[in-house]
Amino acid sequence: MMKVPSLRSHIHFTDSNPPLFSVNSIPLNFMSKIPIAILGATGMVGQRMVERLQNHPLFTIRYLGASFRSAGKVYQEACTWRLSGLCPSTVSQMTVGLCDVDQIPSECKIVFSALDSSVAGAIEIEHANAGRYVVSNASNHRMRADVPLVIPEVNPEALTLLDTQPTAGAILTNPNCCAIPLALSLAPLQALGQIESCVVSTWQAVSGAGYPGESAWDMVGTVHPHAGNEEEKLAIEPCKILDTQFPISARCVRVPVADGHLLSVQVKISENPTPAQAMTAWADWNLRPSTLPSSPRPLFILHQERSRPSPRLDINLGEGMAISIGRVEVCPVMGLKYFVLAHNTIRGAAGAAIANAELLIERGYVHANR
Ligand SMILES: NC(=O)c1ccc[n+]([C@@H]2O[C@H](COP(=O)([O-])OP(=O)(O)OC[C@H]3O[C@@H](n4cnc5c(N)ncnc54)[C@H](OP(=O)(O)O)[C@@H]3O)[C@@H](O)[C@H]2O)c1
Repeated sequence: MMKVPSLRSHIHFTDSNPPLFSVNSIPLNFMSKIPIAILGATGMVGQRMVERLQNHPLFTIRYLGASFRSAGKVYQEACTWRLSGLCPSTVSQMTVGLCDVDQIPSECKIVFSALDSSVAGAIEIEHANAGRYVVSNASNHRMRADVPLVIPEVNPEALTLLDTQPTAGAILTNPNCCAIPLALSLAPLQALGQIESCVVSTWQAVSGAGYPGESAWDMVGTVHPHAGNEEEKLAIEPCKILDTQFPISARCVRVPVADGHLLSVQVKISENPTPAQAMTAWADWNLRPSTLPSSPRPLFILHQERSRPSPRLDINLGEGMAISIGRVEVCPVMGLKYFVLAHNTIRGAAGAAIANAELLIERGYVHANR
């Protein structure tokens, strides 16, 4: 079924010839910003979105949505600001509304969803039915065959799945917060041989559970095997992103760290590459041109010290969007092993969604105003 034509420019760029970041040759500074709405704006990820959309070159916040618990309150009263610094003055006095379709201003063609997955599924479909592009952090629609599960630096071409969705608008998703660093780190290794299997163990930050998240009893003086379905998501999402099939065995543990998910990865690759070859593959990937405002340069920070990467020291590299890799060594069981670290609410959530929305603009799905 064709989409509502007024939302689309029908400009499609080929991946072999990516455009510089301008739309229809109009550079960023000549465009007026695109109004967006955030659903779930009061939560941990919603607050990160609010933070990262301050002074964004393309987007401006027009609407903040959350549950009935928050609706009707001004933003700084509806949410206790959990991030460093003060709640931004541009939004602190905005009144929070509900997430119903008819509440969102019609000029908001892009709706970011940072909704709890218990409610995200149905609400996101309603907004897609209403002709909007829903850029979602939630897991509900990620594995649908017609929904792109995108990391812009890995599989931007998956965006074309938007054209196959039966709704007037469409849903675009970013992967799980651990699937993002896993898939990003594996993508360059595909050039060294076929990935045959992978074992991954995670040390995940408390902010990954939202707020209030895990109980203090479960987090203080202990570590907490992940009680949810994180392991299932981590086992299937990377294969969809990398467009291949191999078994992934995942074990996920919540640890008393505020932000930053650390992953231990052991991978079996057909040609059994050396650690040096893997380092070269990541370094080569850093040379790829990057056109999105949120894409860090370099993408991969390759650590040499045996004590890195460290959540405390490395999560904010690349303004929270860089991927830290270290301890790249021979694995006597699988061939290759390394640690990879990413900021879970930035690269793993809010920043990932904003980068996907930037890709929507770059590929011409939503018009930037001139
Ligand atoms: N935290 C992470 O690191 C991370 C990483 C990747 C993906 N995600 C995903 O991102 C989403 C948000 O996660 P989070 O950590 O920010 O969760 P959170 O802190 O619990 O926030 C949940 C948000 O959903 C809203 N909400 C709940 N029920 C609602 C309803 N019935 N109607 C409308 N809004 C409702 C809440 O509004 P009220 O404040 O009004 O209740 C709040 O804004 C989840 O789907 C999560 O799985 C999170």
